[in-house]
Amino acid sequence: MTATEEIKRRRTFAIIAHPDAGKTTLTEKLLLFGGAIQTAGAVKSNKIKKSTASDFLEIEQQRGISVSTSVMAFEYKNKKVNILDTPGHEDFAEDTYRTLTAVDSVIMVIDCVKGVEPQTRKLLEVCRMRKTPVIVFINKMDREGRDAFDLMDELEKELKIKVRPLSWPIGIGKTFKGVYNVYEKSLNLFTSDEKQTIAESVEITTLNKENVSQYLNEDFTNTLLSDIEVVETVYPQFKADDYLKGDICPVFFGSAVNNFGVRELLNCFVDIAPYPLIRETEQRMVDPFEPKFSGFVFKIFANIDPRHRDRIAFLRICSGTFERNKYYFHNREKKEMRFSNPTAFLAQSKSVIDEAYPGDIVGLYDSGNFKIGDSLTEGELLHFKGIPSFSPELFKYVVNQDPMKTKQLQKGLEQLTDEGVAQLFTKKQDGRRILGTVGALQFEVLQHRLKSEYNASCGYESIQLHKACWIKSDDKKHLDTFMQERSNYIAFDKEQRPVFLAESAWLLQMAQEKYPNIQFFFTSELN
Ligand code: G4P
Repeated sequence: MTATEEIKRRRTFAIIAHPDAGKTTLTEKLLLFGGAIQTAGAVKSNKIKKSTASDFLEIEQQRGISVSTSVMAFEYKNKKVNILDTPGHEDFAEDTYRTLTAVDSVIMVIDCVKGVEPQTRKLLEVCRMRKTPVIVFINKMDREGRDAFDLMDELEKELKIKVRPLSWPIGIGKTFKGVYNVYEKSLNLFTSDEKQTIAESVEITTLNKENVSQYLNEDFTNTLLSDIEVVETVYPQFKADDYLKGDICPVFFGSAVNNFGVRELLNCFVDIAPYPLIRETEQRMVDPFEPKFSGFVFKIFANIDPRHRDRIAFLRICSGTFERNKYYFHNREKKEMRFSNPTAFLAQSKSVIDEAYPGDIVGLYDSGNFKIGDSLTEGELLHFKGIPSFSPELFKYVVNQDPMKTKQLQKGLEQLTDEGVAQLFTKKQDGRRILGTVGALQFEVLQHRLKSEYNASCGYESIQLHKACWIKSDDKKHLDTFMQERSNYIAFDKEQRPVFLAESAWLLQMAQEKYPNIQFFFTSELN
């Protein structure tokens, strides 16, 4: 197969959802269809047994949430599908945002009982900003959920998106009979089967009473026919192009736990989802079909095996072919590096690979060379855009509780913040270290990991801060003056970039008004 063919058959995506909507279950069922796992329950049962495909950290087993991101790949209908898992917990939203930079499309899971939930809203906002194509899967149709039309309205209103049902439910909850698949023109009948075997579907080329009533009673037949009529009138015709531009989101209905509606979703997904797209760097646009290799690190994962200090940097390949043992240029460190054991992720296992293509995610063993956002190329300077740090929302002073372990604490803080668990700032005036996070749970995760991986005891002291804003000015004198006059509120991030610590929204506004020559940024991507 040529490189072009390889690229065109890649489908790299993430499943996003509010916790408990059924993301893990859907992932598992997709893996099942892809033949990557053999039995239903494999992902879940391993979750309990410890490290698995989607759950690595001890802490997440304790808490039953998916803290980290993992990658699972499988082949389906001659397409190479790469699923990037995202943490469900909202405190790890930043991790999810970064993962979204490494995908080409998204499947969003919605619980039909709960409808649009807060986390769904936030995540979709990120997709909308980036124009990422989104397919919606409305899950748990075996439960007494909302009316399908109401759900469509809610999606459009709450998420500010346009939707187009490509399947339509027949009944709901106890009376759920199945779905009519608009995309494949088939009727898919539901049997709540303990063994969770794959449901069969019947092709219905012409949707009329005669054809449908062979399978459904009169009431359901009539409702389905009138519903589909409304669907065809109210919603625009589905055009793959509109979906690819991020203008319209196709919607599917099903029940992941019952293995229902998943195959239809997957069939349509491999058909319409985009292959790797052109990516923006600060220097130029990078086309996946360019012969020269480029890629960026969007995730660093530490200590999968707690006996080793190794980390794995997750590299998204953007162009060219990545080859094992070939020297590549590490842009930030300005050095050549080669990798003898790059790994690919196959459902629950990893394997060393010789080459990988745009759209693939490769795991690189790392002894501390990488930070999130780093790029590798064949020599060219390229900085991929869209992988910023966001201004944290919660802040705490770091307190070293064991002076004998000062070095360990420093090292642990450096490495864990490189992984993006939290951001580290150092105050200009007194050198005190401040940790900033998006969620409260991250402070606990850090404390736990500092203790278990670095043997360092980290305590916290509260600090009242509203935001940390990166600051810039076209005139260095203005910046110096500002930093002088507000020196008590200035800190530096790990890259030594100055940051303004605003105690309240009002004080931030005051500073913005008083210093019009200073630009304040809420992400570290200062443009
Ligand atoms: P998440 O990753 O999005 O957090 O959700 P997850 O897949 O873990 O699913 C959350 C719960 O919803 C699970 O139940 C799961 O079995 C259930 N679920 C998923 N899909 C469906 C569905 O189509 N119908 C129904 N009725 N339930 C569904 P749990 O009790 O938390 O876990 P478990 O004991 O079943 O594993």
